[in-house]
Amino acid sequence: MKKGRFITMEGVDGSGKTTQLQLTARYLLDCGYEVVTTREPGGTKLAERIRNIVLDADAAVNPRTEILLYLAARAEHVEKVIRPALEAGKVVLCDRFADSTLVYQGFVRGIEMDKVKALCELATDALQPELTILLDAAPEALLQRRADRGVKDRFEQEGLDFQKKVREGFLLLANADPVRVKKVNALQNTEAVQADIQKILKDEGF
Ligand code: TYD
Repeated sequence: MKKGRFITMEGVDGSGKTTQLQLTARYLLDCGYEVVTTREPGGTKLAERIRNIVLDADAAVNPRTEILLYLAARAEHVEKVIRPALEAGKVVLCDRFADSTLVYQGFVRGIEMDKVKALCELATDALQPELTILLDAAPEALLQRRADRGVKDRFEQEGLDFQKKVREGFLLLANADPVRVKKVNALQNTEAVQADIQKILKDEGF
């Protein structure tokens, strides 16, 4: 059976993940891989509908409701998109995955980590990325960068303390699993960030 490769990209809101995901996909295509890019929550029709619900929801939504929505979307996404692509030998590049749940719903919203892990395992049927690229930057600096560009979005709505906690959660995960999770300084310019990512991919045998 052909073996695909599963890579995820994580980071605080506004760290440039989406741009880097597209550039990384282009690079891997140029290397000759078949690449599927996708995102969470989302990736299938049903999961995109759940995305609209969960991202439009009132900020006061209960964390338990929230996690179940994210995980319902993930179960669907893994079964319909990610696993079939991996079984077909493709590289799957996913914007956010279970690490986001551990950080946002576990570390930040306060659901017990063991429970979050068990629920993620259920939703993914134990699928894990072999490589996770963490675009890391201090939220204060990202906020400044966004203000300079005139961007207004959820980053500002959630507030700086929230984003700092998110960053702290991702750094804890990266430090706990440095083999899988590779940190990249997201405050560099786009080309420099992409160069770091390509170096990591080369080290991983791409
Ligand atoms: P998205 O528009 O993808 O954000 P960004 O472009 O900043 O990555 O929205 C995803 C949001 O959902 C983001 O704030 C993180 C959050 N999220 C969770 O809280 N839990 C999860 O499991 C996932 C996948 C995302």
